Amino acid sequence: MPLSHLDNTPPKFKPEKSPYNHNRFKWHIAKLTFWSFMFLGLILVFFIQSPSATSSSSSTSSDLTRRSLKTSSWGGPVWEKRVKSSARIRSRNGFSVLVTGAAGFVGTHVSVALKRRGDGVLGLDNFNDYYDPSLKRSRQALLERSGIFIVEGDINDDALLKKLFELIPFTHVMHLAAQAGVRYAMENPSSYVHSNIAGFVNLLEICKTANPQPAIVWASSSSVYGLNTKSPFSEKDRTDQPASLYAATKKAGEEIAHTYNHIYGLSLTGLRFFTVYGPWGRPDMAYFFFTRDILKGKAIPIFEAANHGTVARDFTYIDDIVKGCLGALDTAEKSTGSGGKKRGPAQLRVFNLGNTSPVPVSDLVGILERLLKVKARRMVTKLPRNGDVPFTHANISLARREFGYRPTTDLQTGLKKFVRWYVSYYGTGKKSDQ
Ligand SMILES: NC(=O)c1ccc[n+]([C@@H]2O[C@H](COP(=O)([O-])OP(=O)(O)OC[C@H]3O[C@@H](n4cnc5c(N)ncnc54)[C@H](O)[C@@H]3O)[C@@H](O)[C@H]2O)c1
Repeated sequence: MPLSHLDNTPPKFKPEKSPYNHNRFKWHIAKLTFWSFMFLGLILVFFIQSPSATSSSSSTSSDLTRRSLKTSSWGGPVWEKRVKSSARIRSRNGFSVLVTGAAGFVGTHVSVALKRRGDGVLGLDNFNDYYDPSLKRSRQALLERSGIFIVEGDINDDALLKKLFELIPFTHVMHLAAQAGVRYAMENPSSYVHSNIAGFVNLLEICKTANPQPAIVWASSSSVYGLNTKSPFSEKDRTDQPASLYAATKKAGEEIAHTYNHIYGLSLTGLRFFTVYGPWGRPDMAYFFFTRDILKGKAIPIFEAANHGTVARDFTYIDDIVKGCLGALDTAEKSTGSGGKKRGPAQLRVFNLGNTSPVPVSDLVGILERLLKVKARRMVTKLPRNGDVPFTHANISLARREFGYRPTTDLQTGLKKFVRWYVSYYGTGKKSDQ
């Protein structure tokens, strides 16, 4: 082999120094370098393509999946220290709760409330851009001030979830991460499958094998009532006629919850929230963008049901929803399985969390006009067939009986608090604000 001059063995012959041999030597080095790079490149490509390397369980095909899984960066001693400190329980008999969707509207409020009473809280959120991510970052800053760390990652990332459960024996999971919004489902259906179905299954897979298994409280939605016309909506009413893909994925979540409860003994409580509103709310919701558009002098669409019928919502103030979430967590029984095996029957529940007093959307606008002291430019339009239902109305007697759920904030009072927050956060847009 002509590469003997690179050997450590003493040369039998004098080293050849002809220019021809020197060039051959350079040529071999170049060849070796080229093939080394090719080899390394192939290894790299293999790891990027491999599903186990990206840690995704099932839906690596969608762009959204790839984007949200790749953006997560986690691990290392500093990160682990933050995780442990955030999840540390500071009260007797306190819980350690993993809150998914912690940078979201409901997640932020629930996390703060849990932390305030001494529970250990760890957040998880992928900070997606369904709506302005800077609002999620501001909520994150708010949580940081309360000592709550939000791990940046996706609920589909099973390696990340496994790591979190290795570090913390969570007693509870408050699962609020989801793709919300009814109309957006026509634009980006796969994001609903990704978060509300694949992500939920992935989370349950991790919970079922965790030791101890946590109890899980998760957000379903009033939208599961779909085309149901019986009012007020009771948990016993039919929920097999969803009017949007969002509703269908929440309904699927309820069935999936049943399966994991049945096979693995996971304690599961689904909460059907009814149009939640309040400070730090979601910009895609009507009360929020009505406020913005009224201040801007932009026309706002007021939907009208068939035959000039009124569109009404059972608007529920965020503090009442938080009380309901805490009540559900406090009354959640332990999961009964261990090591992925069921050891006995476990609790399975579903509750409405609403306000029990539907308000026509035109009245909501009237309240906003008075609070903002600006006349709205109303544009009455037929309710489009894109997933919205004409009215919602919760029967909350089950939640009242089980954990004393009693909403106390009426729309006027709640909107006053929302508008105060909105103006302090965004200003009124008037010159005096700038
Ligand atoms: N706000 C309401 O009126 C209402 C009504 C009914 C049900 N819900 C449900 O309540 C829960 C909370 O709603 P919200 O209003 O706070 O919504 P939100 O969009 O403000 O919060 C959801 C959070 O989950 C995160 N998220 C989404 N997909 C994720 C994923 N795959 N991995 C990690 N994080 C992910 C988002 O970044 C977001 O911060 C949701 O499940 C929603 O469907 C809300």
